[in-house]
Amino acid sequence: MTAFTEPEEARLFSPDPGAPAVPWPPAEPPTPTRGVDILSNTSRSIVEATLPAVGAEISTISRVFYNRLFRAVPSLRDTFNRANQSDGAQQRALAGSIASFASLLATGEQTDIGPVMARIAAKHASLGVRAAHYEIVRIHLFAAIAEVLGDAVTPQVALAWHEVYTVMSKSLIDQEARLYRQAGVTPGDVWRPVIVTEHEYDGAHAATLHLRSLDYEPLPGFLPGQYISVRIGLPDGSEQSRQYTVFPGRTSEEWAITVKRVPGGLVSGLLCDDLRAGDHLVVSLPFGSSVVDDGSEPLLLVSAGVGVTTTVAALRHLQSRRDDRRVEVLHVDRTPYEQPHRTELRALVDSLPNARLHVRWTEYDELRSDGRILLPDIPVPRDARACVCGPIPFVHAVRAELVEAGIAPESVRLEAHAPGVWFGPDDAPTTIY
Ligand SMILES: Cc1cc2nc3c(=O)[nH]c(=O)nc-3n(C[C@H](O)[C@H](O)[C@H](O)COP(=O)(O)OP(=O)(O)OC[C@H]3O[C@@H](n4cnc5c(N)ncnc54)[C@H](O)[C@@H]3O)c2cc1C
Ligand code: HEM
Repeated sequence: MTAFTEPEEARLFSPDPGAPAVPWPPAEPPTPTRGVDILSNTSRSIVEATLPAVGAEISTISRVFYNRLFRAVPSLRDTFNRANQSDGAQQRALAGSIASFASLLATGEQTDIGPVMARIAAKHASLGVRAAHYEIVRIHLFAAIAEVLGDAVTPQVALAWHEVYTVMSKSLIDQEARLYRQAGVTPGDVWRPVIVTEHEYDGAHAATLHLRSLDYEPLPGFLPGQYISVRIGLPDGSEQSRQYTVFPGRTSEEWAITVKRVPGGLVSGLLCDDLRAGDHLVVSLPFGSSVVDDGSEPLLLVSAGVGVTTTVAALRHLQSRRDDRRVEVLHVDRTPYEQPHRTELRALVDSLPNARLHVRWTEYDELRSDGRILLPDIPVPRDARACVCGPIPFVHAVRAELVEAGIAPESVRLEAHAPGVWFGPDDAPTTIY
């Protein structure tokens, strides 16, 4: 059985004795001169002027940053998703978010990046990130900037970019503090031991785990579409965390998650095949924004593969509210045998007065061969709110189609099972709602 350990906050702040000296930043971070949400005029023009140079190197900066960070604080390797590190997804997400944020600050553009910041804050909260961590990140991020850009980083340029970082981290720290307050915990205190009460295979490659607290106290409530992080010990002694959409278990006091086994994955196989009823797990409290507004607009719930967990959570919520609004549900899976929650999805849709189910058993990229995933088969009302959950290419393709069909971009919420992408395949900025 895999060993689980409690987090040791202290070790997070114990740099390696052999870690390289940090040449930058100055001891005291600068304070923004004009409040927390805008840059000073000087910094604004410096950031605007240096944005192309920083933007061009931001991916390298991000890679160097993570190397430095992990050399200095090796335990952080366990906090970050190792697969996202190795395929560069997390580096791209960090780099993209900072570059886009800086660009907005410098140009004063009115794009609403609130949902993206909310997504980052929720992910951070689900991993127990605290205000003190931002200082560690700041040190190594600016050391990486200095390493990559060399002499181009004059003290004025460094100060201007510090201001960007300060504004951005202040916004995230504030949001995370609010999330912790709402959850009723001190910052970072999100991990809870739970016991697996039931393990059942669901579809050819997935298992549903039912979880309850060790002391039989009801587990906290959650909103439909929220997720928990599961932290698990690996055979090599390290730890990794992964996120799983949470939905109600058999009783109101329990949670359930459905995990699809990913070939070569570090965590999903252990959860699917090694755990059994009676085993213990360490999980976070639920975070993430809700996918269902309690309004009356028609809802479009679109999912591929194990993304169906988000649709199931939404439908369970609608069922508990006896919601009678129009709901169109589209699910795409390779075969009926692979589709988790297959029977339940049909039953949930049938239990709602105005819901219809459309299931496609095929590869989603085959659906794209005629250029369409959804349309024209599914009538999509223009005032619909949509929630799309699945692999990144799938959610981007569906979103483009919905927007083309006349749905407002801000009414399409994307939930990808990977770090948020700020730039689409053609490098066009893409907001994750
Ligand atoms: C908000 C959110 C909600 C989610 N909800 C669910 C859910 O409800 N159900 C669900 O099943 N999943 C869900 N996920 C996905 C889940 O968090 C995991 O990403 C998934 O289970 C795979 O984890 P893993 O550890 O098995 O794979 P990982 O170890 O993360 O590997 C993923 C892929 O990367 C490859 N890889 C790993 N390490 C390396 C390496 N060193 N070099 C090259 N390639 C490598 C693996 O072969 C694999 O193909 C969700 C994700 C998010 C962000
Ligand atoms: C201004 C500073 C920061 C920015 C802009 C930032 C940005 C991001 C972004 C864009 C993501 C991906 C979110 C998603 O899933 O879509 C992310 C995830 C993450 N961040 Fe941050 N972050 C910052 C600070 C920090 C700090 C201080 C820590 C603590 C050590 C941290 C730890 C993490 C972790 C562990 C993840 C999840 C990684 C993964 O799943 O691969 N971040 N961050």
